[in-house]
Amino acid sequence: MNERAGLEAIRDREVLITGGLGFIGSNLAIALVELGARVILLDSMREDHGGNLFNVEPIRDRVTINFSDVRDESSLFLGRSTCPAVLLASPADSPR
Ligand SMILES: NC(=O)c1ccc[n+]([C@@H]2O[C@H](COP(=O)([O-])OP(=O)(O)OC[C@H]3O[C@@H](n4cnc5c(N)ncnc54)[C@H](O)[C@@H]3O)[C@@H](O)[C@H]2O)c1
Repeated sequence: MNERAGLEAIRDREVLITGGLGFIGSNLAIALVELGARVILLDSMREDHGGNLFNVEPIRDRVTINFSDVRDESSLFLGRSTCPAVLLASPADSPR
């Protein structure tokens, strides 16, 4: 698959990003939305982390935001089961 075909493949795909309101997640989300992906951001807005709605201001109306904790198993089922996921926050990173 060449680069152009790879970028086209993301169009209209649903992508789940955990930790999506943080530094990396929000920048990735902006790039994916520009490529036409339907992005779901899952974030618990932990006080000791960098999550902020301001980070996604340019795409605020074009993403779905799920304010929940990745440690809650049900929170991960918002996307379809085949939905690709980028895990920037994982249960292993968030011990109780
Ligand atoms: N920024 C960097 O240069 C860099 C470099 C190497 C590795 N990393 C790693 O990449 C990951 C993301 O980095 P970042 O800079 O975007 O961090 P960040 O703090 O800006 O974003 C992390 C996001 O994850 C969310 N989060 C944390 N625990 C969560 C949980 N249990 N459920 C849901 N959301 C949760 C936070 O609220 C925050 O919005 C981190 O694990 C970090 O250690 C970052």
